[in-house]
Amino acid sequence: MKKLTGLKKIKTAIFISGRGSNLKNLLKFSKTKYSPIIIDLVVSNKKAFGLKYADQYKVKKKIISFKRNKIAEKKILIILNKRNIKFICLAGFMRILSKNFIKKFKGKIVNIHPSYLPKYKGLNTSVRSLWNNEKYSGCSVHYVSEKLDSGKIILQKKVKITKNETEISLDRKILKEEHKLYPKAILKIFN
Ligand code: GRF
Repeated sequence: MKKLTGLKKIKTAIFISGRGSNLKNLLKFSKTKYSPIIIDLVVSNKKAFGLKYADQYKVKKKIISFKRNKIAEKKILIILNKRNIKFICLAGFMRILSKNFIKKFKGKIVNIHPSYLPKYKGLNTSVRSLWNNEKYSGCSVHYVSEKLDSGKIILQKKVKITKNETEISLDRKILKEEHKLYPKAILKIFN
């Protein structure tokens, strides 16, 4: 693995909306010498629980209301450009970015999704998997394209669904894998 100095690291923003466990995990990863990214900004569309991790790691945070998407995205783009941010990781960000925004950051936005894509795009992936008696679920890191959860897959991991699996137990297992997968996917992109 390549060791990178601060200067060579890619300035990155993480977008969240909630709990922020992937944010916390990526912040931790970004502090390792192997990380190709440096987290410069955390964006949230609301006062999310996960913002506390930005404080813990002394990373700048911005809350931008998405009541009017166009205005919100304009504001974000100004900040991203000002800070020279080159890469965006969505981590539980619950707003859909416009075509225009995605175009401006073409191939530079990635997302983590709690299913083995292309199966179960969208929300409530675990409940739907259980309902359909699936044998496995998983998680996927993919590029963000104009179509929801449909961009090119970077890495994914299968998670077995056991006999007495519940939504809670499955979500927990998937999240554990997400925390391994996201850093691996970022290493794959830049190394
Ligand atoms: C994760 O399951 C992720 O796959 C999905 O939203 C959830 C975010 O969890 N996109 P957290 O906020 O990172 O804990």
